[in-house]
Amino acid sequence: MDWNTIFFVIWPYISLTIFVVVTVYRSIIRPFSISSLSSQLLENKQLYWGSISFHYGIVLVLLGHLLALLIPRSVVLWNAVPLRLYLLEITGLGLGLWSLAGLLILVFRRVTVRRVQVVTTPMDAVVLAALLVSVISGVLVATLYRFGSYWFTGVFSPYLLSLVTFTPQIGLVAPLPWLIKLHVINNFVLAAIFPFSRLVHIFTYPIGYLIRPWQIVLWNRKIRTQNTQ
Ligand code: HEM
Repeated sequence: MDWNTIFFVIWPYISLTIFVVVTVYRSIIRPFSISSLSSQLLENKQLYWGSISFHYGIVLVLLGHLLALLIPRSVVLWNAVPLRLYLLEITGLGLGLWSLAGLLILVFRRVTVRRVQVVTTPMDAVVLAALLVSVISGVLVATLYRFGSYWFTGVFSPYLLSLVTFTPQIGLVAPLPWLIKLHVINNFVLAAIFPFSRLVHIFTYPIGYLIRPWQIVLWNRKIRTQNTQ
């Protein structure tokens, strides 16, 4: 058995099995642990800028990945006009850099703000490190191996589909440069650690907010100030 089989067939199946089984198990056994364990009350300013940039950037980048995976032909047709290809590539890269800036702010906050440090677990550090590898390698792939939105549809759309249909086509990924392989292998690491970490909060948004009762927040302090004026 060679390394490509281990990393692009066996590892994805192990990772996706852990992702599905442990996530379902955790939501049934400990439903109230599905949370981001917000640290907003400990520090808010850096969290605001870091979180907004990271989340908006990464959600839009992943939406782009999803479109290339689900409607590859439409993406190829879109890219047939050079101006549209450049626009898509520049937008993807810009969003990647935006999410990287946000992630760096979040890492800086975890490392420098004492109160946030205290509530940071080893798993938080692992998640941040894995996210950094994903985002940095993604941005480097987009910069060094141009027109990824074009070749993604010919390489990764069929490869990921072949995994889902249990007919893994390893020949599609085996010849790729190591940086692109690192990006993919690390994303399966993220999937495997997902159910053990605060990343599970992804499943709380926005569905939970649609069905939960209203939460009414009263700012007592402000009311008292107004009353004394
Ligand atoms: C196995 C799943 C994935 C594959 C096959 C994949 C593949 C790729 C490819 C080919 C590119 C270059 C796109 C371009 O040049 O336009 C890219 C870019 C990128 N990827 Fe991924 N990726 C995957 C999952 C992820 C995940 C889970 C994240 C984040 C947690 C991520 C973050 C990024 C970022 C930030 C970029 C740069 C922005 C962009 O050009 O779109 N990727 N990815």
